[in-house]
Order: sequence, then structure tokens, then C-alpha cells
Amino acid sequence: MRSLINLAELERLTLEALIERGLKIRDGAGVDKVLAEMTVANLFFEPSTRTQLSFDLAAQRLGAYVLNFNERASSTVKGETFRDTVETIAAIGADILIVRHRETGSVDRVAAWTGQSVVNAGEGTHAHPTQGLLDCVTLLRHFGSVDGLRVGVVGDVAHSRVGASLARILPVLGVELINIAPSEWLPLGVETPGASDFDSVIGELDVVYLLRVQTERGAEITAEYIDGFQLNADRLARMHPDAIFMHPGPVNRGIEIESALLDDTRSLVAEQVANGVPTRMAVLEWLVTA
Ligand code: CP
Repeated sequence: MRSLINLAELERLTLEALIERGLKIRDGAGVDKVLAEMTVANLFFEPSTRTQLSFDLAAQRLGAYVLNFNERASSTVKGETFRDTVETIAAIGADILIVRHRETGSVDRVAAWTGQSVVNAGEGTHAHPTQGLLDCVTLLRHFGSVDGLRVGVVGDVAHSRVGASLARILPVLGVELINIAPSEWLPLGVETPGASDFDSVIGELDVVYLLRVQTERGAEITAEYIDGFQLNADRLARMHPDAIFMHPGPVNRGIEIESALLDDTRSLVAEQVANGVPTRMAVLEWLVTA
């Protein structure tokens, strides 16, 4: 069976096929129970709401049994190591391991230790491939085509695995990506253009993609940040009338976005969440239909 650890490992045709399949499932295409009699284990070593629950539902809709590991109520509290924990869950009988972990490289290690099919559900600052895919499903569903779109990824780019996965997938699909952040949060060495003046580019964007400030990875929320980079009513008014905004969640209301704007018709935030289950169903199908 296949694994999905990083979008950089996939060719454009594969990325497009996964996005198209996610889109079709979202719009009502039938599915076969391709995971019948299989077990999917959600191994989340960092908190999650939408990723864990949508993998759970995606796996159930494809006929799988689902095990949900809760780190805080697990034997890791008694000192069991990460490796012993994942090997134990593989030995219990999980066929597919969905892994979220704070350390870059941890998902590769799970694949090597267990030899199982593994999906990266968000790893350190490195990658969140299914978020990147579901965001493409969201863009395609809204715009019809993504080729030539201008997407501004705004905020804590340096610490964001979502930003990293968007930087891998969007340019492959013909999207022009601009990272917009305070200079200390613009990652060094990436080829994506960067801007530190949100107001100078906001009117040229088709999509404003807001990132959460990753305080758990050392980023600090400052008044200067909110002043320069928060999407507020003034900035929304300066966006192109056909432009929309997105956020992977969880949203910190009043930090990266003014709270009331989440109810605006130009928000695709709820649509992103709704696209999570069908996109993850497409990924789980792809793992087992090689
Ligand atoms: N976007 C995302 O990964 O959200 P969760 O942390 O709730 O899974």
C-alpha cells in the first residue's frame, strides 16, 4: 500500500487526480467500501479537531474500522516511547496509520518502524499534505480553475506546515503564490516571492489565505502584527470584489482576522472544513488502489 508523507513526492498528474476525486466525492459521486475489513488508526500526538475527525469519518465511509489514539490517556503518560507506542498500535492490527506529530521527520520514522501505510496528518513546521489538497479542492470548486490565480499566504509562514504544503502544491498547479509576513516570518531560501507590506498587495490578490500564529512553535502575537497583517473590515473592503479569503483553522478570532468577518460571504473557511472528509476519502482510496 502507498503512503502520503509529503506532497513533494507526488507528480502533478497524481496531485490533480487526488484533487479531482476529492471534488467528485464532495459533489456526490458514489464510493466503494475499499477499506472494508481494514483498520485505520488515528495517531495524533498534537491536538486536532478537523483533521482527526474528518479522517475518522472518511475511513468509516470507506468501510474501515477506526482506532482513535488519545495521547493524554495513553501509556505514553507512563513512559512508553513514541516508537513503542506506534509499533504497539501497528501490532494491534492497524493497516493504515494517520500520524500527526510535532517533530519533523516523525512520520517517515513511523513508516520505517512499522512498514505500514502512513499518512502525514500534520508534522512539525514541515508538511500538512491533506490540508494542501483540500484547499485545492476548495479553490477549484469556487473558481472552476486554479491556473493563474494569485494567492497571498498571510501571517506566520515560517512556522506553518500548511504554508509549506501550499508552497509545494499551488505553484505546480499554476497558481502564483506570494508569502506575506513580517520579515522575520518569511522563510529563508524559498523561491516563493515574499512581501512584508500586506496593504500594498491586497488589492491584487484573488485569495487571501490567512495562517494562524503558531505560538506553540515560539511565534509571538504582537500589536504590530495585528496592525499590519490582520484581515479587518478596512482590508476586506480593499480586496478585489471577486476575491475570497481562507483559513485552515483553528482560527484565533481577533488575531489573524476580525471576528465578525468569518460570517462574510467571501469567507471559504467553512467550505474548507466541508471539503476535508471527501478529500481524505480520496487519499485513503488512493492508498489502497495502487
Ligand atoms: N487545519 C487543521 O489541521 O486543523 P486541526 O488542527 O483542527 O486538525
